[in-house]
Amino acid sequence: MKNSSTQAAKRDSFASSFGVLVAMAGSAVGLGNLWRFPYLVGENGGAAFILIYLGFVVLAGLPVMLAEFIIGRRSQSSARSAFQKLAPGSHWGIVGVLGVICCVFIISFYSVVGGWCTEYLFKAVRFDFTDGSPESLKTMFSSFSTSTWLPIINHTVFLVLTAGVVIAGVQNGIEKFSKVMMPLLFLIIIGIAVRSMTLPGSGPGISFLFRPDWSKVTSQTFLAALGQAFFSLSLGSCMVVTYASYVKKDAKIISLSTQTAAADTVFAILAGCAIMPAVFAFGISPGEGPDLVFVTLPHIFSQMPVGGVIAILFFLALLLAALTSSISMLEVIVAFCIEEFKMKRKVAVALVFFFIWVLGCLCSLSMGPLSSWKVLGKNIFDLFDFISADFLMLIGGLLIVVFAGWKLGKKVVFDEVTNGGTHHVPAWLLKTMLFLIRYVAPAALLAIAIFQIHE
Ligand code: TRP
Repeated sequence: MKNSSTQAAKRDSFASSFGVLVAMAGSAVGLGNLWRFPYLVGENGGAAFILIYLGFVVLAGLPVMLAEFIIGRRSQSSARSAFQKLAPGSHWGIVGVLGVICCVFIISFYSVVGGWCTEYLFKAVRFDFTDGSPESLKTMFSSFSTSTWLPIINHTVFLVLTAGVVIAGVQNGIEKFSKVMMPLLFLIIIGIAVRSMTLPGSGPGISFLFRPDWSKVTSQTFLAALGQAFFSLSLGSCMVVTYASYVKKDAKIISLSTQTAAADTVFAILAGCAIMPAVFAFGISPGEGPDLVFVTLPHIFSQMPVGGVIAILFFLALLLAALTSSISMLEVIVAFCIEEFKMKRKVAVALVFFFIWVLGCLCSLSMGPLSSWKVLGKNIFDLFDFISADFLMLIGGLLIVVFAGWKLGKKVVFDEVTNGGTHHVPAWLLKTMLFLIRYVAPAALLAIAIFQIHE
């Protein structure tokens, strides 16, 4: 008994609700918002995509986030043991293991793109884009990303920064870092959005974002919107379970989850406002795809008044957003190693760092020298993205809501969101939440899984 109480006392936790919010938002706001969201909006009919996306955030994203929050906060344990503790003697712990595996796959390719951000920040500081024609910027990006050493060096720098924060722990590392960086990130993106929306000729870009074009909407649009909602909110991979396990018993789960989802969505729309008006002002098609951030934007920055400074701020924002997300993925894996194998934090970070570094190098090389290594017709980078974002996150999300809604059940769910009855939550809200967790979210996730297999 004495032993377990000293262990519990030693477990790290967030110091304040604001700390939880910025850390959660830090995980959610990432390359998904600044890189994926704007080009998906561009390819899928502007505001039409945004509206469908918002629907999925509320109907499928929020219930899964709440379910993860309940599991993590109630168990105060990392991914696998959270499920084992709440359902002793069952096989539910596998969901936690899948979450850890999912984070390993995501962080491996994510940190390669994080490395592209450090390189492009460096290029921006050296004003490398100043007289860039679209062709030369395209060549600049493809020769960099397909080369051997430079992307690996950048990937290493990015992972060292990530590990440096995680090694300092939850309160002294993750919380402190997020408290400073997240407000800074919001300020930067608001500044860029203002610059972009006041450019001459930005009007069509603004109406593109806010006036829906339903003719571009197909069944693919719905798939893309749900997948993006999941990716952007970091769901289905036990990230929220892990962070919620560091949340105090008096924190209000429903408001924290809603605020996190709201912050992530507002940021995605701000990113759209920072990018689309400028894209239109310079007469570029909005459906540029993944090249948008590393080719199209540097070109636009090179043409824009004070574009050199905007480029530095933009790539700094991209790097910060990517860092706070990769920190949360690393924490899921590290917390798992600390609890399952009784490792010290430093040892766990070092081992996981090395493992992910190797996988990341393979992802990076798969853009160039190893591009002929293919599984299911995909290179390693795309394969990792596919396994995690298109498969593990969705399966994980489905199992998580089923676990919370049906295995834990109504009593535990209500008990957890009302903090054991001490925090008042209106009855209609409780009922709606349970309905979403039990029926709506599983139905949406099953539908997308069936579509995915059908393709
Ligand atoms: N939400 C992050 C982004 O938008 C990426 C992400 C996906 C993630 N899955 C995750 C982050 C799991 C942490 C854990 O870029």
